[in-house]
Amino acid sequence: MAQLWGGRFTKETDKLVYDFNASISFDQKLYKEDIKGSIAHVTMLAKQGILTEDDKVAIIDGLNGILEDIENGSLQITSEYEDIHSFVEANLIDRIGEAGKRLHTGRSRNDQVALDMRMYTRSQVAQTDALLNSILETLLSMMEANLDTYMPGFTHLQKAQPVTLAHHLGAYFEMFKRDRQRMHDIYERMNYCPLGAGALAGTTYSLDRAYTAELLGFTGPTLNSMDSVSDRDYLIEFLAALSTIMMHLSRFSEEVIIWNSNEYRFVEIDDAYSTGSSIMPQKKNPDIAELVRGKTGRVYGALMSLLTTMKGIPLAYNKDMQEDKEMAFDAMNTVQDCLHLFTGMLDTMKFRKDVMAESAMNGFTNATDAADYLVVKGVPFRDAHGIIGRLVLYCIDKNTSIDKLSLEELKSICDVFDEDIFDAVSLKTCVEKRLTLGAPGMEIMKRVIEEEKEFLAGFPVLEA
Ligand code: ARG
Repeated sequence: MAQLWGGRFTKETDKLVYDFNASISFDQKLYKEDIKGSIAHVTMLAKQGILTEDDKVAIIDGLNGILEDIENGSLQITSEYEDIHSFVEANLIDRIGEAGKRLHTGRSRNDQVALDMRMYTRSQVAQTDALLNSILETLLSMMEANLDTYMPGFTHLQKAQPVTLAHHLGAYFEMFKRDRQRMHDIYERMNYCPLGAGALAGTTYSLDRAYTAELLGFTGPTLNSMDSVSDRDYLIEFLAALSTIMMHLSRFSEEVIIWNSNEYRFVEIDDAYSTGSSIMPQKKNPDIAELVRGKTGRVYGALMSLLTTMKGIPLAYNKDMQEDKEMAFDAMNTVQDCLHLFTGMLDTMKFRKDVMAESAMNGFTNATDAADYLVVKGVPFRDAHGIIGRLVLYCIDKNTSIDKLSLEELKSICDVFDEDIFDAVSLKTCVEKRLTLGAPGMEIMKRVIEEEKEFLAGFPVLEA
């Protein structure tokens, strides 16, 4: 047990208390941010004349040595230190002696951890943005290749109207596009530097907070020291956005699972992304999609956990806030893994276009178009709806479909029907005539795809 704060104490910390209090087992993830933050801090201290140039150089060399040794594996982060901040500082003092003891001048672990966590989260936001961008690129090229891959569109999981695979995938494109926009919003709002807030009330040293903020790539310094050490809004926003990404991935997974089922057979998941059964030799299971759907729960859990942790905390820092890390780290990892794997699964999945088209032709997906046909011929829509309803009943009774009826049969239900009805209710016409902006018709889909390409080109991935 090595602590930074022994002076005021006359007894050793109880071993159980020490373990319960310690965070190094999980906050060691922050070592890089902690070191970078310290380098910026001492650079500023020296510029302000609070630290000598010699001390600054010694400290920075020492910190860079620690960083290098952690990364090449020669320095293990061990649990004899309470947290990553103590570990780095104690190591620095071991390495460079006296000068190391000056590192923490004008700083508290409260603004230090606020900074570390913010920088770590900022780079996670950027990495998530990059993964979202690659799923968008994958979707866009799949859309271009499937402009006339017909399939049923559903409402209530009942066949409704025919659409195309490009159109269906386009819906997910919109979702992940909004997710990317959320990453950019969060990044911009969170990008203010809390360092210099001290324990809660700033410091008496003449710190140049704007300078440290600039060194660390922030837009500027935060404006209230109490808020700076106790704000975790940015993390809550990020977890909410991660939850939304998982909700999208989970819906998509659910569809892949349905499409992959023996009943639908719309897709075949690549062998590399499927698993078998220990007992049933015929099985090829969509485990990746199921796991993505399943892992949604733990990401929502992280959001609920942090919201609940934060709700009763008086200003300013309280140790409760150490609980912001474990579940948030888990959520960040989980979402990145899920995005990565899901994109790979999508990229290698085969669509059975014949099965999808066949399915789109069954189930009266052209009933609305048959009604619209009558409307064009002058029948009021409400009457046309009733006529086609009776026609559907007739077909169900005869176990057939609208396009397979003879003109006489059609005329026996409504004499407005003519030869041109067959073209009007063909699958191709039903889709290609849907040309309102956002609809599946090929011509309008092409225009939308062009617009999406322009969006991607003008929306660069955030820098990690
Ligand atoms: N491990 C702590 C955390 O994650 C660091 C801050 C400790 N500050 C303190 N006053 N005990 O929040």
